[in-house]
Amino acid sequence: MAEDLARVEAELRDSVRTDDAFLTEVASHLILAGGKRIRPGFTIAAAFGAVAEARPADHSVVMGAVSVELVHLGSLYHDDVMDDAATRRTVDSVNARWGNLKAILAGDFLLAKASEIAASLGTEVAGLLANTIARLCEGQVRELQDAYNIGRTEQNYYTSIAGKTAALLATACRIGGIVADLPRPLIDTLTTFGRCYGMAFQVVDDILDLVSTDEELGKPSGNDLVEGIYTLPVLYTLETPAADALRAILGDKLEPEQREAARAIVLAGDGIERALEVAREFSHEAASALAPLEGTFAAASLGAAADHLIAKVAAAASR
Ligand code: IPE
Ligand code: IPE
Ligand code: MG
Ligand code: MG
Repeated sequence: MAEDLARVEAELRDSVRTDDAFLTEVASHLILAGGKRIRPGFTIAAAFGAVAEARPADHSVVMGAVSVELVHLGSLYHDDVMDDAATRRTVDSVNARWGNLKAILAGDFLLAKASEIAASLGTEVAGLLANTIARLCEGQVRELQDAYNIGRTEQNYYTSIAGKTAALLATACRIGGIVADLPRPLIDTLTTFGRCYGMAFQVVDDILDLVSTDEELGKPSGNDLVEGIYTLPVLYTLETPAADALRAILGDKLEPEQREAARAIVLAGDGIERALEVAREFSHEAASALAPLEGTFAAASLGAAADHLIAKVAAAASR
């Protein structure tokens, strides 16, 4: 798998090379900055859903993985404009370095490149990826509609993260299964895993935004509070006696002192612990979905990813 991921890196870099040196530079910026590469890893792992051991992945599997990471990248370019974020993957965000207009155009370029590659993998993959980009936009729009809304419901939160995050993780797994030509029921199983894992993943990201530092995240910590994105730990805190104090701060863009005051209120209550429990449930749901794949490389590596996600956030939250 490590070799397959190295092939993904090379293809990713190639995919954004153009005749225009400036566009190539902007579009390569976050690829070169790193990132965990969870989504391409899932595509490759999913492709081994019918065998016990991984072997070098087919070229089409590698390209499926590249198309999924390109969609993720494009969404990060756009998301950092929406969140007015100055850093990403430990470096300047694209909008911080080149401005919002170029970040949006380069994000569009990445989505276009993803679509071009998906089309080369067949109409099913192309349609699926296009649908996933639409789901991503729906989730992001839903989140924007609830910005600064202290009455945001838990249900609205779940609807948003299902679109903006879980849809792409589900598709990352599904494309691996489709391109590897696995039996349909196994493709659906992999998709369910990815969707449940994706729900857990965003709940974890939202907890980490509150409990980790800028340096640990490589992106601005506490930014969800600043931007009015009230995530699960905040929604739970708003159900406790601390709600009045928190409500008095939230509802508008925050200065750094207000952000820290709001963060302290959330950390003092049980909102983080309750959100962690929800992440655990989604992660267990993801792991249980893998039962029909037992004994395969996919089940072992995807199951380990689900365990790792929860271990990491539990450690960060308990410091
Ligand atoms: C960040 O995703 C965006 C979310 C869906 C929370 P990742 O945490 O996978 O970001 P990278 O790819 O490792 O930078
Ligand atoms: C994920 O949500 C957004 C995308 C799907 C791109 P966040 O806004 O929480 O992601 P980060 O924290 O900026 O990485
Ligand atoms: Mg963001
Ligand atoms: Mg976040």
